[in-house]
Amino acid sequence: MNKPKVFIARKIPKHVEDYIAEFCDYEKWDKDEFIPRDMLLKRIQDKEGIMQARVIIDEELLEYAPKLRVVSNISVGYNNFNIDAMKARKIIGTNTPGVLDDSVADLVFSLTLCTARRIAELDKYVKEGRWTATDDLNLLGTDIHHSSIGIIGMGRIGEAVAKRAKLGFDMEVFYYNRNRKYKLEEELGVRYCDFESLIKTCDFIVLLVPSTKDTYHLIDYKEFSLMKRNAILINASRGQTVNEKALIKALQDKKIFGAGLDVYEQEPIKSNNPLLKMSNVITVPHIGTATVETRANMASVAAINLVKALYGEIPPNIVPELL
Ligand code: DGY
Repeated sequence: MNKPKVFIARKIPKHVEDYIAEFCDYEKWDKDEFIPRDMLLKRIQDKEGIMQARVIIDEELLEYAPKLRVVSNISVGYNNFNIDAMKARKIIGTNTPGVLDDSVADLVFSLTLCTARRIAELDKYVKEGRWTATDDLNLLGTDIHHSSIGIIGMGRIGEAVAKRAKLGFDMEVFYYNRNRKYKLEEELGVRYCDFESLIKTCDFIVLLVPSTKDTYHLIDYKEFSLMKRNAILINASRGQTVNEKALIKALQDKKIFGAGLDVYEQEPIKSNNPLLKMSNVITVPHIGTATVETRANMASVAAINLVKALYGEIPPNIVPELL
């Protein structure tokens, strides 16, 4: 029997590639940079499956790949899927939830700590030889321990952040979510809060909602104006959840203390973006899941999703809208 043809559009560990090779006839892209779109479109014309990260799966791509049956994301987010277009062609779309929660939560905390204690700014200060014998009164940050954190989007990653906040830093943890998490409230002592109260009262505001029509520019200038002057915004979800122009203005107007950002409205961020000039903003390049271990686990989950779907089994992680 002929094996199904697939294209792997991101570097993956050898053992995952070997697993795919058992079941599929595959071609791969194994350069560090993203595959150029035109090259991808040429290489998927005869493929039944694609495994990739952050490739926009839209009408155009689907037109180029008439045999396509499965798109396996190596990510938990799937805002790269045009759900209607995929539905119309009965394409199965999968993602990789579960294996990345702790890594993303660790990154949220790195951003929280670095922003509050001005780590990047003060690292530069020391390295540039500006640490002289003067007192350190200009170098004060703000406390994380015993402060309050508001988590917007209490999924698995939110829970991992809440645990770190509560058990590691004795923070008061509030959350806003579509559904109440009564068990978590009871077990961890986190408190449900309406959206407006959360942004008005929390010292740290962490965005972990997926990017959808409903969450587009969820945080805009109005929301920044409601925040405390010492508030710090952490965004580890998707750039589209924050109006970046409003964020820049809020920082310029000193409406908030700072921001820790893993994601941006445009990625990679443009070199002239004013955020890059702001010492109270920590910017990292969408690395929430970027550890060797987690990326390997994500690739394994994505490979299982791909193979199962191609062989007519129900893959473990079909995204809910395509079920
Ligand atoms: C995810 O898994 O969605 C991360 O943001 C990496 O893309």
